[in-house]
Amino acid sequence: MNNKVKWGIIGPGHIARKFAADLLLSENGTLHAVASRDADKAKSFADQYKASTFYSDYESLAMDSDVDVVYVATPHAFHFEHTMLCLKNGKSVLCEKPMGMTPLEVQTMIAEAQKRKLFLMEGLWTRFIPATEKVLDLLADNAIGTIINIKADFGFNPPFDRNHRLFNKALGGGSLMDIGIYPLYLALLVSGKPDSIKATAKLTVTGVDSSCRMDLTYKNECRANLLSTLEEETPTEAIITGTNGYIKLHTRFHHSKIITIEMNRQKKEIVLDYNNFGYLFEIEEVNGCLMEGKTESVKLPLHDSLALSHMLDMVRKNIGLY
Ligand SMILES: NC(=O)c1ccc[n+]([C@@H]2O[C@H](COP(=O)([O-])OP(=O)(O)OC[C@H]3O[C@@H](n4cnc5c(N)ncnc54)[C@H](OP(=O)(O)O)[C@@H]3O)[C@@H](O)[C@H]2O)c1
Repeated sequence: MNNKVKWGIIGPGHIARKFAADLLLSENGTLHAVASRDADKAKSFADQYKASTFYSDYESLAMDSDVDVVYVATPHAFHFEHTMLCLKNGKSVLCEKPMGMTPLEVQTMIAEAQKRKLFLMEGLWTRFIPATEKVLDLLADNAIGTIINIKADFGFNPPFDRNHRLFNKALGGGSLMDIGIYPLYLALLVSGKPDSIKATAKLTVTGVDSSCRMDLTYKNECRANLLSTLEEETPTEAIITGTNGYIKLHTRFHHSKIITIEMNRQKKEIVLDYNNFGYLFEIEEVNGCLMEGKTESVKLPLHDSLALSHMLDMVRKNIGLY
């Protein structure tokens, strides 16, 4: 692939707008096509974000032979269907989080991509944010010693709307699948898959979790105390504590621009600023992988997405959410 990577976007909603704005800044990628179920919406999105073409159905985009990779940005419950549509039409995929609603869906998506030798990655942009990269470097250097605790919360207070994807069960609603995935991913990234998870939740009248507390334990005695909530604005910070100190990812921790590290009672603040919505880093990771002919990212491998899906499943079983 010599020229710029040509992207397609399926589901031009809230997040796709930010993604497309960042794609305009990309050195190695360009927006080729967008598909909405509404032709006018597709056209206006294409005009605003300089796509060469647009479609009024998702299948036509999946069949466009000029598209190299599709960003699937529909609500959670459709990630499986739309990713499979793209893969079966020979397209690589960056699928928004969570990659599927169940481990079986994720496993099936991975198997399809592998069978067809296509690139597949979950849109966990957190992994590529400079602050996350810095934290991983510090941990690899054993900067704070052995990790003993991870504390992370993610909370905001949207108005209740039974039809919105956050509260609508058919669209995969609830705090866990939408934002609880970020603290869980941080724990996975830092300490791996836990040995057990205990979780409690409050459910809405629509049958999804409005808040979810998760306690993870590891054989090496590391623990993680995590929270997601749609009931209150919480600090949305993360603190990783080790035997020699701690690292704090400042709010919002999943795309932080500031970290603090404290060791031997000495505090140091590190600013890792960036001038985009934060999606440019994952976009360039995908571009790079495609240009090198890779079918998955070393930084965000498919087995991490599967492990994360199992963790979400463990939580759901605990809180009785199916
Ligand atoms: N990475 C992040 O920071 C981040 C942030 C927010 C959300 N997300 C993820 O991105 C995904 C989309 O979130 P969003 O907030 O952008 O959602 P949204 O705006 O509510 O919906 C995205 C688009 O999905 C399409 N869609 C297809 N079938 C639909 C259906 N039955 N009901 C509603 N919409 C449908 C719609 O596009 P058309 O009608 O135009 O076809 C809609 O504009 C979610 O899975 C979420 O987890 C990620």
